[in-house]
This record gives sequence, structure tokens and C-alpha cells, in this order.
Amino acid sequence: MQIYRTNNYTDMSRKAANIISAQILMKPNCVLGLATGSSPIGTYEQLITKYKQGDLDFSRVKTVNLDEYKGLCPTNEQSYQYFMNHHLFDHVNIDPSATNFPDGMASNDDDECTRYNQVIQSLGGIDLQLLGIGHNGHIGFNEPSDSFEPFTHLVSLTESTIKANSRLFNSYDEVPTHAYTMGIQNIMLADKILLIASGKDKAAIMKQAFFGPITPTVPASILQLHKNVTIVADQDALSEIALV
Ligand code: GLP
Repeated sequence: MQIYRTNNYTDMSRKAANIISAQILMKPNCVLGLATGSSPIGTYEQLITKYKQGDLDFSRVKTVNLDEYKGLCPTNEQSYQYFMNHHLFDHVNIDPSATNFPDGMASNDDDECTRYNQVIQSLGGIDLQLLGIGHNGHIGFNEPSDSFEPFTHLVSLTESTIKANSRLFNSYDEVPTHAYTMGIQNIMLADKILLIASGKDKAAIMKQAFFGPITPTVPASILQLHKNVTIVADQDALSEIALV
């Protein structure tokens, strides 16, 4: 596990974007696993800047996003597909048909989960998976549980996650209670993992996830077993971890 401590969110975003850029430069037709939330917004901004400077080409890049709220369609501003279009895809030369999401409007949950697992498989797996981390240790929407859920599944979101994400909605009641998310094995099968974290509010969970026991009650702790994990986090998020 490689840990980079950065001064602040901007530095974290720049370093994370550098790592993703390196992936795209080394393998122009790579498959990127992408995340939503506040953490990656700066990283996406930096990628857009690099694209506009002529340093990056997304024309052969394919993407799979971690998750999508159940019941939200892509034109809904709170959907993760809308988020990705708004924060990245609309600003670079990626082929929209090469970007993939669980379908929040799917009528059959099991069929949708099977379809999404097949999408990931048909792309040949993920070269680089970008992750944020929830305050309770969730990755994607893999919430704390008594076992790790391996593949794409429908999750009942915890109250703390709904509360945390309600900041992006008009009210708590508007936050969907369910979401589709890639599972832990989908994530662990990625060649490389890049986890970003910023802010004091992530300090406790960062310590628990990466220096505590591996347990499904802290889903991100499983990443300790991945062969190629890079953490880029600011000093606030790493403030409970003493690095040599
Ligand atoms: C959401 C997303 C996760 C994200 C997490 C943390 O629940 N499903 O993919 O990592 O929130 O978000 P933030 O980066 O805003 O703290």
C-alpha cells in the first residue's frame, strides 16, 4: 500500500489526477472505475484541465461507475450519471456510449445487477478503480454489514449515509433509500485501486480502515488485502495516522 500525504484537497486532487493520467497515457484504451461524491470533484477538474491542455485523450477510455441511486433517471440532477456528465464526461472527448452505470430506473433488481456484472466482465475488468470513502467505511455503496457482498447488488442505505448525502439534496426525505452498487469483489478485481480522502471528518475512518482489523463492518478495510492500492489523502484525513 502506497500512501501519499498531501497538504490539502487541491494537492490531493492534482496528485490523484496525475495517477489517473499516467494510467490513460500508459494504456489509452483502459477501463476506469469511477466514483462520485465531493472527494473526486477536484480530481475530475484537474483531468479536464489536462485534457484541455492537450495532454490527455479520452477517446478510447471506457468507464464503469461504482453506483447509482435506485429510482433516479440520468437526467435527474441528483443521479450519479448526471454528476459524472456534469463534472467530467461533458468536458472531455470520451465516447458517451463507453461510459457505464447501473440503471437506476431498472424494473428488475436481480436482472440489473446481473447486467452490470456482465458489463464489467465484458470490458475485461477494471484497470484503475478510483474510490472515496464514507464516514462509516463504505466504498461505493457497500455499507457495513456482517459479510462482504461480492457482486453488484441493491443496497438499503444506512441512515448515516442518507444523512451525509442529504447535503446534496433539498431535504433528507428526498434522498433515495436504495442504490445499486458494485460489490466488493468487483472492486477487488481491479488491477489498481486509488483511494482519495480529504478532511478531518475522514481521519478516524481512515485509521480504522487501513490500520485496523479487516472486517465487513468497515468495508474499506478489505482493501488492505489488495495487491496495488494507492491512497492519496490530505493531512487532515491522515491526521490520526503516523507515517514514517
Ligand atoms: C457516497 C458515494 C461514495 C463516496 C462517498 C463519500 O456515498 N456512493 O462512492 O465515496 O459517498 O463521499 P464524499 O467524497 O462526498 O465524502
